Amino acid sequence: MFTSIILAAGMGTRMKSDMPKVVHKVCGKELVKWVIDASREAGADTVVAVIGHKAEAVRPVIGESAETVIQAEQLGTGHAVMQAAEYIKSAPGSVVVLNGDTPLIKAETIKKAIEYHEAQGNSATVITAEFEDATGYGRIVRGEDGSVLRIVEQKDASEEEKKIREINSGMYVFNGTELAWALDKLTPNNAQGEYYLTDTLAILRGDGKKIGGYTIEDNDEIRGINNRVQLSEAETIMQSRINEGHMLNGVTIVNPSSVFIGAEVEIGRDTVIASNVTLTGSTKIGSGCSVEMGCRIEDSVIEDNVSVLNSVILKSHIGEGTNVGPFAYVRPGCRVGKHVKVGDFVEIKNVTIDDGTKISHLTYLGDTDIGKNVNFGCGTVTCNYDGKDKFRSEIGDNVFVGCNTNLVSPVKVGDGAYIAAGSTITDDIPEKNLAIARARQVNKDNWKGNKYTK
Ligand code: UD1
Ligand code: CA
Repeated sequence: MFTSIILAAGMGTRMKSDMPKVVHKVCGKELVKWVIDASREAGADTVVAVIGHKAEAVRPVIGESAETVIQAEQLGTGHAVMQAAEYIKSAPGSVVVLNGDTPLIKAETIKKAIEYHEAQGNSATVITAEFEDATGYGRIVRGEDGSVLRIVEQKDASEEEKKIREINSGMYVFNGTELAWALDKLTPNNAQGEYYLTDTLAILRGDGKKIGGYTIEDNDEIRGINNRVQLSEAETIMQSRINEGHMLNGVTIVNPSSVFIGAEVEIGRDTVIASNVTLTGSTKIGSGCSVEMGCRIEDSVIEDNVSVLNSVILKSHIGEGTNVGPFAYVRPGCRVGKHVKVGDFVEIKNVTIDDGTKISHLTYLGDTDIGKNVNFGCGTVTCNYDGKDKFRSEIGDNVFVGCNTNLVSPVKVGDGAYIAAGSTITDDIPEKNLAIARARQVNKDNWKGNKYTK
């Protein structure tokens, strides 16, 4: 049980963006949401995000996932934490301070830092790391006994202090009551004229309290995102974590560096993901599937044993044992049954397709309800749009649609009907009827118009 305070009020000027920094995404999830989720996973019962810059754009992203408080003016990290004073004073356990722009922090690390803090009986514990190049970071000044004396910011550091390699990650564990007391005493007496959260450590120490440092092993975890280069570096690191997670869960990923899987995506065991695949949003893929080269699947459910090759599937549901592609485009609102074939150069939109139906090639079906075991010949087109309105059609079970058929919607094709190739169907077809809707062929004997014959 602990309280997590997430600092997310800053401008993020270096992103050169019209959006606040913390709503930029890594692996499809906003920076601040990564930090909120890591807090929850570590066991936080209260999470408070301090927002300020373009708060109206940050709040909907946070939604119900955390409390928010507003820091109207950004007067420093200490000032930001002060805005959450009410939560800090009443915090039943430790108070953790994190940054909204460090999405790579792991729940495990937060947990361990709290355990260390509590086991040591510290008043404050700063999460630190050893950096080759510590430029720009606050440096950790340790005493003889290894305890933390204070943190000195780059701009306030002496030449000696600048040589220190141990840096402040900007993440801390505090005793809530003592933090609240120290925040009351904070002044902006420094090079930047800001209320430094780091100064609370010196204040607590001055009062005889114990301050510790918890050094993490994986420096990636405290990488802050300040610009788009760092955003893409974080994306790469997070992506390999996500891919490794799936692989350890029994998913084969043939070429992980070319596979992009969103944070929320679920994949069943023994599914094989080939190269150049992007799976995003709320996508769920079953077990034993084969997602072959060049697929993009977004917000879709793919049941077990489905095979997809070189295709795009958006906001749709694909039933068990169905084959999609190559080069199929499944647009939003499709519900495809089991053992269906959505073949090459087939586009479907807002259709329901029952089990066993085959749409093998070069076909467009939109706004149509299709029964079981229907066979579509090559080049079927639903003419579902008259330039103003869309119309829905219905095709029964066991229908045979001949090649190059146009179905001018709305039209209803009864069970077991048979449509002759090349038909343009404008009227309903009763069940088990043969429909032929094309001009009769005329052969002209001994015709002289063909230049190719002598
Ligand atoms: C801070 C630390 C520094 C540490 C570094 C790690 C202080 C004084 N310094 O420096 O020791 O090495 O983080 O990255 O704390 N924020 C607000 N409101 C404010 C100011 C900041 O919400 O008024 C937020 C920012 O949006 C950001 C975080 O706090 O998410 C850190 O602020 P930033 O100004 O980047 O701190 P640094 O100067 O980098
Ligand atoms: Ca600063």
